[in-house]
Amino acid sequence: MHFPQFPRMKLRLALVVLSCLLSIVTGLVLGRPGHTSATATAGHIRPVVGLSLDTLKEERWQRDRDNFVRKATDLGADVKVQDANSDDVRQVADVQTLITLGVDVIVIAPHNGDAMAKAVGMAREAGIPVLAYDRLIRNCDLDLYMTFDNFRVGELQAQYLVDALAKIGPGKKRIMRLYGAKTDNNATVFKAGQDKVLRPLIDSGAIEVVHEDWVDDWKPENAKKIANAGLNKVGHNFDAILASNDGTAGGAIQALIEEGLAGKVLVTGQDADLAACQRIVGGTQSMTIYKPLKKLAEKAAEYAVKLAQRRPVIATGSYDNGQVQVPTVQVDVVAVTKDNLKETVVADGFHPAQAVYQTGQ
Ligand code: GAL
Repeated sequence: MHFPQFPRMKLRLALVVLSCLLSIVTGLVLGRPGHTSATATAGHIRPVVGLSLDTLKEERWQRDRDNFVRKATDLGADVKVQDANSDDVRQVADVQTLITLGVDVIVIAPHNGDAMAKAVGMAREAGIPVLAYDRLIRNCDLDLYMTFDNFRVGELQAQYLVDALAKIGPGKKRIMRLYGAKTDNNATVFKAGQDKVLRPLIDSGAIEVVHEDWVDDWKPENAKKIANAGLNKVGHNFDAILASNDGTAGGAIQALIEEGLAGKVLVTGQDADLAACQRIVGGTQSMTIYKPLKKLAEKAAEYAVKLAQRRPVIATGSYDNGQVQVPTVQVDVVAVTKDNLKETVVADGFHPAQAVYQTGQ
């Protein structure tokens, strides 16, 4: 079809608008207008996928890696994995290594959602599409973001606590809040979900936050320090710890054990780590959030391979990362207590029953 009445610039603009409309209407990610690199031809017959992870120190990220690599390999791709050991400079260098290796797509679970914007820029320069995995990368031209419903995680954690605190009996309740790592956009979203539930109760005075802090690098030992600081401040005069994941819950529970308070104070979590599930059986942790990692990792592998082959993928929404509306895919989450461990974590094959029930602490 020829568009003579249009000077070249106007023709290009019309094409850009048209493909925008198309991608919005269909939710397709075909590589955004002006992104010559994303629409460039795929490099290899067997797609090569670069996977850059923040850390492999936590159980959950080892699972993400294993599920992702298995699925991508099943789809005929090769995967090159880099572990940044929670070091921003190293993670940027990891992405540079993947670019130099000539991968067709890069999947990044960032340690720091701001620091990795530079790495996304480098990949785009090299014509390589970038998928942010679980954690958002801010202020850059990201192709795709795949994660869980992180706001819902926070809502479920706080709602569990509000309901359980009400069962303790009447009167004001005192809680500590352990947020995640400030470098991780998810930590902010978890907190926002918690705030939505807690705010009215804090404003009414029904709940008092007696101590709160952000846990550097999500490290259990840092969480223990914060819980100890809270115990030094208020003694045993509190009812619960709203911890944002199982690792930090485990650190805080260590502090409670030393005070003889374990099992007497409500503690939340997230990730359904095996140790956390055992603590829930044993009564020292009250709940966790089960995130079907296999589902997210396999979907991300499937979409990464498609991006590598410059094939369209379906996004179910978008997320403003401060620079662009990033096409986004979100997977739902489930609150888990000792009452539904079997129907969720065990039934899904996330942990075998005998491992969960063997040694409650
Ligand atoms: C978050 C992630 C959580 C948690 C945490 C620590 O970004 O969504 O599942 O494990 O990192 O790694």
